[in-house]
Amino acid sequence: MIIASNFKTNHTRSSTHEYMQKLDTFVRESGSAQRVMVFPPATALDRFDTAEQITTGVQNAYPVEKGSFTGEIGLEQIDEFGLKTILIGHSERRHIFGETQALCAKKYAFFQEQGFEIVYCIGEPREVREQGIEAVVDYNFAQLEGIDLSYEKLIVAYEPVWAIGTGLSASVEQIDETMTHLRKKIKAPLLYGGSVKPANTEEILKIADCDGVLVGTASWDVEAFCEMIAIADKLG
Ligand code: 13P
Repeated sequence: MIIASNFKTNHTRSSTHEYMQKLDTFVRESGSAQRVMVFPPATALDRFDTAEQITTGVQNAYPVEKGSFTGEIGLEQIDEFGLKTILIGHSERRHIFGETQALCAKKYAFFQEQGFEIVYCIGEPREVREQGIEAVVDYNFAQLEGIDLSYEKLIVAYEPVWAIGTGLSASVEQIDETMTHLRKKIKAPLLYGGSVKPANTEEILKIADCDGVLVGTASWDVEAFCEMIAIADKLG
């Protein structure tokens, strides 16, 4: 399973170091078999001395090596830490910062060309969910436009916008039904994200097409994140 933490705009450089140390100790001592990913904010990126199964990634970057793009980071800043994993298409990038599908696809193509592992996020807003499963599937498929789904380093995260940061996860039935449809097009590992926490991790990880979780809020506390890793380990 893949158990991933998206810090979003949380944690400092020093608290990230502390977090990574605690996480590493837990993973080593528990002998966890999970693939663990952490996406700290850009200011806290670093080379962390962690077990091989823990991957550090970047939450966002502009598809350039370097240049005049105030406020953005590019390949040069990521390369400094030898990082090779990136989140693309997160709903907060799309909806708060206005990233279009064309920009997401451009970022995808750039980082694919650079051989990055890409966690590509899709997910429908509430008004689409209210229209029923057909609208949901159409909306999510539209977010795959321009994305090379045959890329071997692709992971897709299905994160319904209405379930993100709300404390209200999608139901097991909703996730299961949506992932079954997504599976028709997506062969890559599929993660679910949206109010995942220790209390619902087990039922979500048991969903047939679900290969892991991408966690925001609940994962900012390292103990809770480790608890979710332990739940995945228990499931075998
Ligand atoms: P929450 O776990 O806070 O709902 O966030 C999910 C998410 O957006 C992960 O990328």
